[in-house]
Amino acid sequence: MTVITNIEDLRVLAQKRVPRMFYDYADSGSWTESTYRANNDDFQKIKLRQRVAVNMENRSTATTMVGEKVAMPVAIAPTGLTGMQHADGEILAARAARAFGVPFTLSTMSICSIEEVAEHAGPGFWFQLYVMKDRAFIERLIDRAKAAGCGALVLTLDLQILGQRHKDLKNGLSAPPKLTLPNIINIATKPRWALGMLATKRRQFGNIVGHVSGVDNMGSLSEWTAKQFDPGLNWGDVEWIKKRWGGKLILKGIQDVEDAKLSVQSGADALIVSNHGGRQLDGAQSSIEALPAIVDAVGGQIEVHMDGGIRSGQDVLKARALGAQGVYIGRPFLYGLGAMGEAGVTKCLQILHKELDLTMAFCGHTQVDTVDKSILLPGTFPKG
Ligand code: FNR
Repeated sequence: MTVITNIEDLRVLAQKRVPRMFYDYADSGSWTESTYRANNDDFQKIKLRQRVAVNMENRSTATTMVGEKVAMPVAIAPTGLTGMQHADGEILAARAARAFGVPFTLSTMSICSIEEVAEHAGPGFWFQLYVMKDRAFIERLIDRAKAAGCGALVLTLDLQILGQRHKDLKNGLSAPPKLTLPNIINIATKPRWALGMLATKRRQFGNIVGHVSGVDNMGSLSEWTAKQFDPGLNWGDVEWIKKRWGGKLILKGIQDVEDAKLSVQSGADALIVSNHGGRQLDGAQSSIEALPAIVDAVGGQIEVHMDGGIRSGQDVLKARALGAQGVYIGRPFLYGLGAMGEAGVTKCLQILHKELDLTMAFCGHTQVDTVDKSILLPGTFPKG
């Protein structure tokens, strides 16, 4: 049995245990995947300054994100089809996040529904909204998230149109998977996954199936979703969504300083510097490179979060030093989930926490809240 000590170990195990179609869905970016790779590569260019003989007792990584207490500045990112990485994936990840004391964000495109996850999630249960053409459906989703007690709405703005991922097209990605001969052969080599799936009834988009009239099977569902992402989405929509929701609003997918300023004007509580994990505009700069200019422009007025390429606690600390109040992890928790279910997500959070805590101490800090740019070696980090 392999000893799991880092996020890469979880990735390797997930690749063994999750059917190829769903593993590839998680571990891929759009087109040449250059932005996907840059998200993590750019973290490695930033160097930390070690300090010694500083009292390192009584350390804490606790802080807040949009006013909510978090055990460390890390939230679980919204990811579609999470219940296909592992049976009941969204429920298991929400439980792990709750036990650890970090927020869990449920995607519009989840397998388990808002109501099913709400039964297991903690106070940091957030809902991510995609804007669909069917505005009545969006209104119902917002109301359902409110009724389920979600503490923040994460509104994704960078998916009006879809970036192309070659592997998904080649694999014929669908939920549940079509039982073609190659899929049957591949799934036969993943018995844990298959047994879990046989034991659960949750195999389709739980927030959609049964909530839109006429959408009740795989055929009608794929037809409906393919047409639903709204290329006409604009800042006026942000305004009515904010009004309808009435609670904390976080805008996701901001890359540009001008859009960051518009986010402030929209009255949002926070924005997430994100390129959707390199899954949308290939050729865009990495999130960590985009972060400092956005923090400089709007950091005093709105909370700035980021995601993309976080694979270690060192990365979390670097993002924090460059002004991110918190970060989100997508693939790291998916790898944990695919590798070992709830225990794997817990392991992922434990790994990141330990790395964050020790790295913070090496840099001469005992509280994550006091960390700033001075822990970074000048000349090695992107400037605002
Ligand atoms: C995503 N992401 C995403 N974002 C969103 O707003 N709604 C969604 O449904 C999804 N779905 C999704 C599926 C998968 C498999 C991945 C990997 C990502 C983007 C996600 O929230 C986040 O921005 C990135 O995953 C962050 O990058 P890392 O941590 O994966 O490098």
